[in-house]
Amino acid sequence: MASKVKSVFVCSECGWESSKWVGKCQGCGQWNTMQEELKNTAKPAASFGYTSKAEKAYSYTPPISMREIDTTNEERYKTGLKEFDRVLGGGIVKGSLVLLGGDPGIGKSTILLQVCNKLGNDLKILYVSGEESKRQIKLRANRLGVDCDNLFVVTETDIEIVSQIIQSEKPDLVMIDSIQTMNFTELSSSPGSVTQVRECTNILMRAAKALEIPVMIVGHVNKDGAIAGPKVLEHIVDAVLHFEGDKQMSYRILRAVKNRYGSTNEIGVFQMTNDGLSEVENPSMMLLSGRPRNVSGTCVACAMEGTRPILAEIQGLVTGSGYGNPRRMSTGFDYNRMNLILAVLEKRAGYFFSSADTYINVVGGLRLDEPAVDLAVAMSLISSLKDVAILENALAFGEIGLAGEIRGVSQAQARISESARLGFTKIILPYQNLKNIKQSQLPDNIELVGVRNIREAFGAMVKN
Ligand code: TYD
Ligand code: MG
Repeated sequence: MASKVKSVFVCSECGWESSKWVGKCQGCGQWNTMQEELKNTAKPAASFGYTSKAEKAYSYTPPISMREIDTTNEERYKTGLKEFDRVLGGGIVKGSLVLLGGDPGIGKSTILLQVCNKLGNDLKILYVSGEESKRQIKLRANRLGVDCDNLFVVTETDIEIVSQIIQSEKPDLVMIDSIQTMNFTELSSSPGSVTQVRECTNILMRAAKALEIPVMIVGHVNKDGAIAGPKVLEHIVDAVLHFEGDKQMSYRILRAVKNRYGSTNEIGVFQMTNDGLSEVENPSMMLLSGRPRNVSGTCVACAMEGTRPILAEIQGLVTGSGYGNPRRMSTGFDYNRMNLILAVLEKRAGYFFSSADTYINVVGGLRLDEPAVDLAVAMSLISSLKDVAILENALAFGEIGLAGEIRGVSQAQARISESARLGFTKIILPYQNLKNIKQSQLPDNIELVGVRNIREAFGAMVKN
């Protein structure tokens, strides 16, 4: 007789299943990601939101007209941490599931405790930790100055018990630290495995939606920076936030990768201090501090992150190559886009890089993906190639086209205002954008230079 316990192989990256072991996942193409799990044939307990077939037939809710759907109380809990609220689109939405991912030690537990501290006097919060003991949590809370009446701590890894606590205590907000430590005993696989993570999140989702309790879940990331466990996890939740940053540096960037209740372009900037994370309301100032003076190969760019303009320094280094194949490297800026810019510079503007190693670095661990940053990248490369420093008070933004033209970008006015606010007086921008700028709203000493091509732009950046 065949054994009733069946095993199945599940990809730890994407959740693809196979009855036999294979070296390469056919779902996502990764190698060596298939892990054996015991297939669960037992029906999950009815108390966790599953209804029997007979019950289902009578308990469905009839379709409802779009007009009649009530949205008046789409409530958000404002955390008071402005940078955090901004990324969530204005606060934590009732009944939402938020996944917070990030490298170990980046500050996920810290920020959750700080959110608890801000909300804990008005709301009843349940902090579930499967990673730390109550004492450890208390010690950290003391360090962060957490002191509130309605914050309750549970150290538990059994998701059914957690779900029961949620149902009986009915808190206003639940924090789960972390989903990889949670365990659904009905499943035989170990905590952190694909099936476990998926089922545990499903159980939390049912609790969140049924009782309208927002749940924030910490998720670990794997070495590639994706949230460990299945991609499906990202589909289940309402918002996915990524906490990133250079561990060596003190600042951290919170970015929304997915958000059903807001924009995904917004970023929040924090700084890790001795007593927790503090908000950085003026990230440009921080990113530009320590900028070298009168050195070639650096140019300031202005990128929009959501609704907020951010100024960042872009450094380029061009050196003679010792090998036939020159080395190209880019940090914080798209590698292929850099190659494209180098090609345009050679073909259209007559700057030759083919026998030189080139490096691009966006200072501060920031990632800039916007085409408006092109011009500043090109300027820093040319500046390093020619060994001519760019004016200290100058800044550039604009997209570079394949014909070597500088193309207009969106929100030029906002970029100029921010640049002016930070003391830049000479702004190089696409000629196209120039006519829509309201000069009257700018300080008198601002010089706007509209440029049509790369040579014109570089000329304007090095001469007063
Ligand atoms: P933590 O929130 O435990 O990270 P995660 O939960 O993402 O793994 O953050 C731990 C790091 O933060 C640790 O390296 C020490 C640092 N830290 C501070 O610098 N100041 C502080 O006040 C706290 C609480 C942590
Ligand atoms: Mg932690």
